Amino acid sequence: MDKQITILGFAGSLRKGSYNKALLRAALELSPADAKLEIFDLEGIPPYNMDLEDRIPEKVKEFKEKIRTADAILMASPEHNYSIPGILKNAIDWASRPPEDNSFNGKPVGIMSASPGMLGGARVQYHLRQAFVFLNMYPVNRPEVFVTFAADKIDDKGKVTDEKTRKKIKELLESLVAWTRKLKAL
Ligand SMILES: Cc1cc2nc3c(=O)[nH]c(=O)nc-3n(C[C@H](O)[C@H](O)[C@H](O)COP(=O)(O)O)c2cc1C
Repeated sequence: MDKQITILGFAGSLRKGSYNKALLRAALELSPADAKLEIFDLEGIPPYNMDLEDRIPEKVKEFKEKIRTADAILMASPEHNYSIPGILKNAIDWASRPPEDNSFNGKPVGIMSASPGMLGGARVQYHLRQAFVFLNMYPVNRPEVFVTFAADKIDDKGKVTDEKTRKKIKELLESLVAWTRKLKAL
């Protein structure tokens, strides 16, 4: 069997009932057999402060180490005010610092977004793609997973019940794994 691809997933939402956390839990069930997804919770990452760069907070150290050792990254996020939620941007900023130790450097990445609204958080995805240029990350282009009207597709226990959404998530994971193998010649 091919080398197993390790993926680190995190959500741009801290709330327990998060639709985006639900997408990541579905991804755990839908991962290909040759991949292993681990979910990291961004709760506890303090606000970024350059004065702390010489004594990086423990939670940030842990986050950076997990990113560094993963073959690929999976982000699931809502959009906030048409853009990247503060907690996700803050975590990305920490992990990208200092520039010579940008943990995301060269990593393949897949993105998904969910929103109760009709665009499924689409705009956060394009803002993330813009940040990926500076982070030197390699995003999967397709499929684009926008989960619109999330309340109709995720039940009150936080399970993604909509079959079309589950299929898209599965396809994204398959694409991410194939893309990772291609980039890293694994
Ligand atoms: C500060 C804030 C800004 C928001 N802005 C948007 C927005 O621009 N577009 C959108 O579709 N939903 C927006 N929402 C609604 C979120 O999509 C919704 O709360 C979503 O469920 C959050 O994701 P989660 O379920 O993963 O926590 C916003 C919510 C908050 C709290």
